[in-house]
Amino acid sequence: MNSIFYDSTMDDDARRERIYGGQIFVFSPRDSSLRFCEFARTMLNDAFPGLDPERAQYSLPVERYAEVLAKLKPAFIHDARSKTLIRALMADLGFALEKTYFDVPRMRTATSDDYLTSGIAYAFHPHRDTWYSAPFCQINWWIPIFDIEPSNALAFHPHYWSHPVKNGSRDYDYASWNRESRHTAAQHIKSDTRRQPRPEEPVALDPQLRVICPAGGIILFSAAQLHSTVPNTSGRTRFSIDFRTVHVDDVMEGRGAPNIDSACTGTSMGDYLRGSDLVRLPAELVARYEEAPHPTPLLAGA
Ligand SMILES: [Fe+2]
Repeated sequence: MNSIFYDSTMDDDARRERIYGGQIFVFSPRDSSLRFCEFARTMLNDAFPGLDPERAQYSLPVERYAEVLAKLKPAFIHDARSKTLIRALMADLGFALEKTYFDVPRMRTATSDDYLTSGIAYAFHPHRDTWYSAPFCQINWWIPIFDIEPSNALAFHPHYWSHPVKNGSRDYDYASWNRESRHTAAQHIKSDTRRQPRPEEPVALDPQLRVICPAGGIILFSAAQLHSTVPNTSGRTRFSIDFRTVHVDDVMEGRGAPNIDSACTGTSMGDYLRGSDLVRLPAELVARYEEAPHPTPLLAGA
């Protein structure tokens, strides 16, 4: 059973427990999230001078477009203001900054009409972030920068919360990916040859759930939730912000969503920064996840 909690005032401990149980939380736009979107829009306007960012794909050759994104995205990720905005957003939603660690925010693009769906604007096939070495206590945050509609949204496949999918996560190792593949994203324009964990059996995409919130709305969900990029047919590029958080008590005590089918190695745990002072998680704690990245899958060989 999956529920969507809308503008819930539940405290963070109870909320995390619900998220680890497969529930999704959606919040209306708030000052803190709108400020983040405003910042992202300013960067987009600078990156596409004289163009409407949502329609810029129709005015630029795809190679040029990929070049623009290849500059814009790292600039957004590493700008100190992005971190300040995330901390304000976490505090606003009741995440304790001294206990919650976050990773740097990504700006995602889903172009319309298959203009660019690989590399720097990768259209994600159905996946769980836990196939990519995310810990099971990871919470994903997703915020559209402009209004979205069903034809350019993010899709959840809630049936698979409790049903394993045969997948390629056994071949994914976080450290190798970072070493070999991540930095080559912008080179993949026509196709994407980077080896990623994918379903290895047909996935029933329906029933699926597309949560449509206004720009600055916030969607929180477990890293174990199966989700995908909706093929965009809206005529507008979708831009969104996402980042992830973990609560240190859950990291220490091994709480999180159940593992039903992930078999990757390594961990993204070393990436997170503490909300209060940007300090990383203690190395010995990260090492624990490096050795045993996740609870054993419930189904052997899945
Ligand atoms: Fe994802």
